Amino acid sequence: MVLLCLCFALNSLYAQQNSAVAIIPQPVKITESGGVFKLPETITIQAPEDAELKHTLSFLQERFSTTTGKAVNVAANAELAAIKLQLLSTPDGIIGNEGYHLSVTPAGAVITANKAAGIFYGVQTLLQLLPKEIEGKEKAGDINWQAPCVEVTDYPRFGWRGLMFDVSRHFFTKDEVKSYIDKMARYKFNLLHWHLTDDEGWRIEIKSLPKLTEVGAWNVKKTGYFGTFSAPTPDEPRTYGGFYTQDDIKEVIAYAKERFVNILPEVDVPGHSLAAVASYPELSCTPGADKYKVGSGNPFIDWTDHGMVAHLDNTLCPANEKVYGFLDKVFTEVAALFPFDYIHVGGDECAKTFWHKSAAIKALMKKENLKTMEEVQSYFEKRVLKIVEAKGKKLIGWDEILEGGLAPGAAVMSWRGEKGGIEAAKMQHEVVMSPTTFVYIDYMQGDAAIEPRVYASLRLNKAYQFEPVPEGVDAKYIKGGQANLWTEQVYNMRHAEYMTWPRAFATAESVWSAKEAKNWNNFTRRVEQHFKRFDAAETNYAPSMYDPIFTSSFDGKGQLQITLATEIEGLDIYYSFDNSFPDRFYPKYTETVTAPKDAVMMKVITYRGKEPIGRLIYMPLDEMKKRAKAKK
Ligand code: ACM
Repeated sequence: MVLLCLCFALNSLYAQQNSAVAIIPQPVKITESGGVFKLPETITIQAPEDAELKHTLSFLQERFSTTTGKAVNVAANAELAAIKLQLLSTPDGIIGNEGYHLSVTPAGAVITANKAAGIFYGVQTLLQLLPKEIEGKEKAGDINWQAPCVEVTDYPRFGWRGLMFDVSRHFFTKDEVKSYIDKMARYKFNLLHWHLTDDEGWRIEIKSLPKLTEVGAWNVKKTGYFGTFSAPTPDEPRTYGGFYTQDDIKEVIAYAKERFVNILPEVDVPGHSLAAVASYPELSCTPGADKYKVGSGNPFIDWTDHGMVAHLDNTLCPANEKVYGFLDKVFTEVAALFPFDYIHVGGDECAKTFWHKSAAIKALMKKENLKTMEEVQSYFEKRVLKIVEAKGKKLIGWDEILEGGLAPGAAVMSWRGEKGGIEAAKMQHEVVMSPTTFVYIDYMQGDAAIEPRVYASLRLNKAYQFEPVPEGVDAKYIKGGQANLWTEQVYNMRHAEYMTWPRAFATAESVWSAKEAKNWNNFTRRVEQHFKRFDAAETNYAPSMYDPIFTSSFDGKGQLQITLATEIEGLDIYYSFDNSFPDRFYPKYTETVTAPKDAVMMKVITYRGKEPIGRLIYMPLDEMKKRAKAKK
């Protein structure tokens, strides 16, 4: 008996280490019970008649029939069904509105939940137990269609599990937005924050303000590094961009709803408003015909010195009554379109350069007894809050809305680190955490020597450390967290995918899984399995976690020293200084190396055993010297 127990224990340890089970986000509780469920030749799914489940069911059918080629039947009452989706008539107190139980035995898979959302998430987990080919776009070859037997109880840690998608800096079509929603829902995100307006484009049709999309949705196509582009000349066509009609918006909302994703619309005011001002120049503190054009990625704000000095006024004027009439029209239509409780009103990075010079602003300050420009913005936010609330919605804004006094009832999205979130939560306001430090997925995820250049970095392991509840804060004010994909440097959908995955896996786990369940090495093992699933689905992702981390310094003799590290376990690094291409027969990195005096380039590649796994990186030694000097 003792021997039997020991064998069993060793077996289960072996199973955990070598398990094929790789669920993201990590479920609250999962036990492997041994054995497998083999998909039968005809797959019968039993499901209740429920409008909210319609899509879940057709999605599951579509996956099975596309990839396995097996016949798939649905039956409301099929005792012998291999897959059963069951809504509980007596609510289960543990799993809440989004949780589920999944039981996979040799006889089949049973998913139970209180609500349709839970069934949808249970289906995602079930699919992740099946071979990667289930993600494919066509019938797979000779596949052993089976899932390991497991018992799962799972539910989210937070109700707000978001991704923000900026469709202003570059426009993404409604089908691209749908494909973004498709993918995020598979990883149990339930909120798309749709950044619909900015300096470079107004993307939502407002029927009472037609110029917003006639004028505001179009700029000049430029390619290279956004923010450094040449100023558009009058002969360059303003035909780049696009917008969503209200019918498009309704279609995307309905599509998201079927996947249990809410949409938070953002209209970013009073800063980031050049597209609006170009459409209606009278909204500016400094109006002027033909003065304003929708931004095309040419610089107009000086960001150095931690301040914002604007050379062109991209703000709505808080001292101009027309602005509040304009916003009333905008939010009337936005509120009527979007069923979600909140409207995001931006509030970030408002350059006040031109407010300082405005007589109207001076008069407003006198009249309202406002002492600073932050108080002027706060006055604006409080009036916007009234408008938004009058439409039956709640207001959320970036953490700048705290400056000059937070409007009562406003929720705060903390992006400049955790500080704003902590401050707002202490004032008993609702908070969503999205700090640059952990969830800015527009940042580079590896070295600038290989990644498309952005001004900051966020590696996967840092993203994995995201903890939405800051220390010393009452967790009840933290609604959840989200990662933000700004798209200044994202020109197309393949690159949007590259920037999002795998870092959004890390965010998914931070907002869904139990805090104690997070484990970096275990996570990266699962990420690798999901890379294979993405390959099958032909979705793009960044392999940056396989690339080494470079640091450099000078020794006492002024010689350049290079230290390499790997982000994940089990990789070897090979390198050359002689310009040839390293492979595993080249020097293997074991400790800090001194660059040969006359060398100009270090080339580096990572391997796992005999297989190259990282990308070949060319690191100019001038760059290593520059970084070593900057560190001194
Ligand atoms: C922001 O990143 N400007 C909110």
